[in-house]
Amino acid sequence: MVAARPSKAEVFRKCGKRLRDRTAESGIFLALTRLPERPTRIAVRRDFSAIFRLILALTMIFPALAPRALAADKVELSVDASKTGAKIDRNLFGQFAEHLGHGIYDGIWVGPDSPIPNTRGIRNDVVAALREIRVPNVRWPGGCFADEYHWRKGIGSSRAVTLNPNWGGVIEPNTFGTNEFMDFLDQIGAQAYISVNVGSGIPREAAEWLEYMTAAQPTTLATKRAADGHPAPYQVRFLGIGNESWDCGGNMTPDYYLSQLKIYSRFVRNYNPAQQDKKQMLKIAVGPGGGEPRWTEWTEAIMKAYQHHTWSWDMNGLSMHSYTVVKWPPSYTSEGFGETEYAQILKSTLDMNDLINKHSAIMDKYDPDKNVALVIDEWGAWYAPLPGSHPGFLLQQNSLRDAVLAALNLNIFARHADRVRMANIAQMINVLQSMILTDKEKMVRTPTYYVYKMYVPFQDASFVPVSFDAGAYTHGDITLPRVDAIAAKGKDGKLWLEITNIDPNQPVEIEASVAGIAAKSATGETLTAPRVDSINTFDAPNSVVPEPIAVKVQGGKLSLKLEPKSITVISVE
Ligand code: AHR
Repeated sequence: MVAARPSKAEVFRKCGKRLRDRTAESGIFLALTRLPERPTRIAVRRDFSAIFRLILALTMIFPALAPRALAADKVELSVDASKTGAKIDRNLFGQFAEHLGHGIYDGIWVGPDSPIPNTRGIRNDVVAALREIRVPNVRWPGGCFADEYHWRKGIGSSRAVTLNPNWGGVIEPNTFGTNEFMDFLDQIGAQAYISVNVGSGIPREAAEWLEYMTAAQPTTLATKRAADGHPAPYQVRFLGIGNESWDCGGNMTPDYYLSQLKIYSRFVRNYNPAQQDKKQMLKIAVGPGGGEPRWTEWTEAIMKAYQHHTWSWDMNGLSMHSYTVVKWPPSYTSEGFGETEYAQILKSTLDMNDLINKHSAIMDKYDPDKNVALVIDEWGAWYAPLPGSHPGFLLQQNSLRDAVLAALNLNIFARHADRVRMANIAQMINVLQSMILTDKEKMVRTPTYYVYKMYVPFQDASFVPVSFDAGAYTHGDITLPRVDAIAAKGKDGKLWLEITNIDPNQPVEIEASVAGIAAKSATGETLTAPRVDSINTFDAPNSVVPEPIAVKVQGGKLSLKLEPKSITVISVE
């Protein structure tokens, strides 16, 4: 599913430019180009290019003349491990898997008769990779798909063949249905986030689906589930009541949606005895899709109703969808881009913070105790489809830029951990900003996957504030913070620090003062790559993988050097 990498000629051209840029920043270049008189600009350019060619030739013959490592700016951080804040809920690291393109079929499901190694039809390689990142929950079956999904077509020995009108109008074989999804969750160790059909379904259909999944008593539907191979009731931890009901989910007004929400909340029950007191099913209402007035009005309407809700309906979460796209339709390329697109995309992704602030402020008005979580159950980068791929399949590459983007968003969520308690990146496999790409029997872990892996210690850790002066990275008219950082006290008792160096050109020297624990040693990993658009491919799967990083600990201070465009996670003991 991954398009060819740039041609050799293109790579060569880019490498040449990069070498020129780096050489320009090096001391050697400055020493050799000090000119006795003030020349004209054209003459300077000619001289520079002659000298550049000379340096290039010399550095090829004498590698010792190669550009020196770049001087690093210093950023001081200060962390007090005794000042813990909200829990960074592990559900912030949730995933989203929709029946879309090759997200389910080929990505997860290959069928029991496939030559691709599988367990009851589910790919073993994908399960093994996902287990490593400790996926807490998976949202399924959509997305827009959910509002046209009729669950009965996906159970039993003979499956109805239907269509997927939202995503390319292709055949939906329904071979991956409820029991296959639950088996998949069981294999990866995640909880179910079921999104029920409010758009084209009826409350009874959703209520019966929950009865089929969760009833322990021998009702007709529970008996059917047992006959389908699962006598024990399933647990459904999260229930999504509709998806984008203001758009693909039925173009509803807030008031119309509210009336649906109340009905579904009342009648779509979870019967699992293990979920009556503890681990109760949490109900997530449709929330905003942006910051414009129509979205703030939506949040106002739902939260105002919640404030006065009676015993007969409830909600535990308000969903928010926000993609990093810059403008619609998605036109940024996911591969073969440069620093300008890197800076533009990252600038846009940082808007997530304002969006959360905006909707949190409304929620605070009606729910000051923060009983309702803001659930960002669709987020991530949305680029133009890869050339040659089906435009309805939303297939894109995943580069180092996406890894930085993921880290920045996870940090924003962590800083809002008291209200933002769940998030689902879109989407898990082969769709948008995915963890994994597959092509027949091949599988590759993306740079974003490795960010999720590095952040595992932050799951259910307690947030610890970090103070620092982020500095600035400027490219053209865009200025971004140079560094970003979060800290947390892990369940393992260690202090964990994440530091991102956004600047793609300059390293950063970090000096972190740590109070609240006697810091004796620290270890860490860093994720970086030569280019902002570096990717992992099926042929070169380890181009963007975490590497160990050296951290010096002395007198309660940590020092380390961050590579340009890098994500670093360290643990302190
Ligand atoms: O993730 C792709 C689509 O984006 C989802 O189906 C929909 O909810 C959103 O608009």
